[in-house]
Amino acid sequence: MAEEAVLRYLEKNEEISDSGEFAEDRGLSHDDIVNIIKSLNGFRLVDAQDIKKERWVLTDEGKKYAEAGSPEVQLFLAIPAEGIAREDLQKKLESSIFKIGSQQAIKNKWIEMGKSQVSRKVQQVEDKIKILLLQIQNGEAVSSEDIDALKRRKLITQQIWKGYSVRKGPKYAPKRKKAATDLTRENIQRGDWKELEFKEYNFSAKGQPLEGGHLHPLLKVRRQVQMIFLQMGFEEMPTNNFVESSFWNFDALFQPQQHPARDSHDTFFLKEPSTTKTLPEDYVDRVKEVHENGGYGSRGYGYEWKREEANKNLLRTHTTAVSSRMLYLLAQKPFAPKKYYSIDRVFRNEAVDRTHLAEFHQIEGVMCDRGLALSDLIGVLHEFFSRLGMSKLRFKPAYNPYTEPSMEIFSYHEGFKKWVEVGNSGMFRPEMLQPMGLPEDVQVIAWGLSLERPTMILYGIDNIRDLFGHKVDLGLIKRNPVCRLGLQYMDSA
Ligand code: PHE
Repeated sequence: MAEEAVLRYLEKNEEISDSGEFAEDRGLSHDDIVNIIKSLNGFRLVDAQDIKKERWVLTDEGKKYAEAGSPEVQLFLAIPAEGIAREDLQKKLESSIFKIGSQQAIKNKWIEMGKSQVSRKVQQVEDKIKILLLQIQNGEAVSSEDIDALKRRKLITQQIWKGYSVRKGPKYAPKRKKAATDLTRENIQRGDWKELEFKEYNFSAKGQPLEGGHLHPLLKVRRQVQMIFLQMGFEEMPTNNFVESSFWNFDALFQPQQHPARDSHDTFFLKEPSTTKTLPEDYVDRVKEVHENGGYGSRGYGYEWKREEANKNLLRTHTTAVSSRMLYLLAQKPFAPKKYYSIDRVFRNEAVDRTHLAEFHQIEGVMCDRGLALSDLIGVLHEFFSRLGMSKLRFKPAYNPYTEPSMEIFSYHEGFKKWVEVGNSGMFRPEMLQPMGLPEDVQVIAWGLSLERPTMILYGIDNIRDLFGHKVDLGLIKRNPVCRLGLQYMDSA
């Protein structure tokens, strides 16, 4: 419609001198005309020249006065011939009208305003302001002094109007041919391919971005942590069993059967199958013995150990369950030093809040060798955590049923400017290692931490439900940066 109007007009006329007038004469929207002119100009069907016009338009205040009259006239008309008390006049008018109106009316010498009384000084007044405003609204010419006066009173403002003047271009045609994008079977059958104009290839057009797979931040951080362990010579433990028996999750770790963590309030027990089928019997006997009566220099717990308790299946509460299986297996062969790690999911029956879920991922490192000491643990923790970007560490004595001594690990967070807990560690107790059959002089040092904590700090996520679970925004997974541990980790606040 608009395109046809422009091209047809130019067929018979030299020029469209003003796109604005052209649009108005035909009742078309100027924006539509402008878009068409730009497009025709791009294809050289027309030659368009910019035109700019400055014009005055009424401000909101100006529009009000154009309709209701200027404040000074409104005020003048509110004063009766015999005069009026100032207070009464004020009540009759809007406060801005009273204020501006009295200033202007006094300036025009229309009224006399005493302390208490207001009276007219002239019989009649003319609303010149309203007349001027209406003239401007209608696009009529107004003298420059009047413009200045209205501008000073902020009743009008300048608007820059942009349009075009248009002539035929080098590729002018009264009707634009739509360029064909494809050569079809029908074009060939009909023979109209001879007349067709084909759209040129645009070799610099960008293609659709490819939608490949995206890695979740936890996977990226896991990969980096895995690389750290591999670089430090650790082997991965097989953690592919979420279901574990209480025996490997607790008993083998010298965790007594009355321990509160073994309560169903803390641990998810399985209904089906509710118990494990096989356990290594002679080892089970030694575990029972050490729980009940001790040995290897220990007094034990002195309670009656129950096999049924150990048989109960559960969702593992820590990956240390896997470490205990691995150490048991290691003890069945002639001893060789080992460095093991794992990163996998664990489950705890916890109330869900912004930092806790009922499932999360644990990172665990285990080293076994003859004569290892607490200093070795401290050393390897420094090595491991500094590779994660945490080089300032502090340790606090802690308690785990299976380690002695035990240490909580704190790291100074440069972004948060405080010490934050980053893990737990210790030396496995002889009550755990000796029943497995490991040589007496073999020590095992180990540590654990969550994968979620560093990931949240690294990616600036403060609610764990934004990281894991059904509320996670897929956009987060598509757009998160690659993970780089080290300095970045310290910098991120
Ligand atoms: N299993 C401990 C936990 O769940 C972590 C840990 C692993 C502590 C190894 C000491 C040694 O928090």
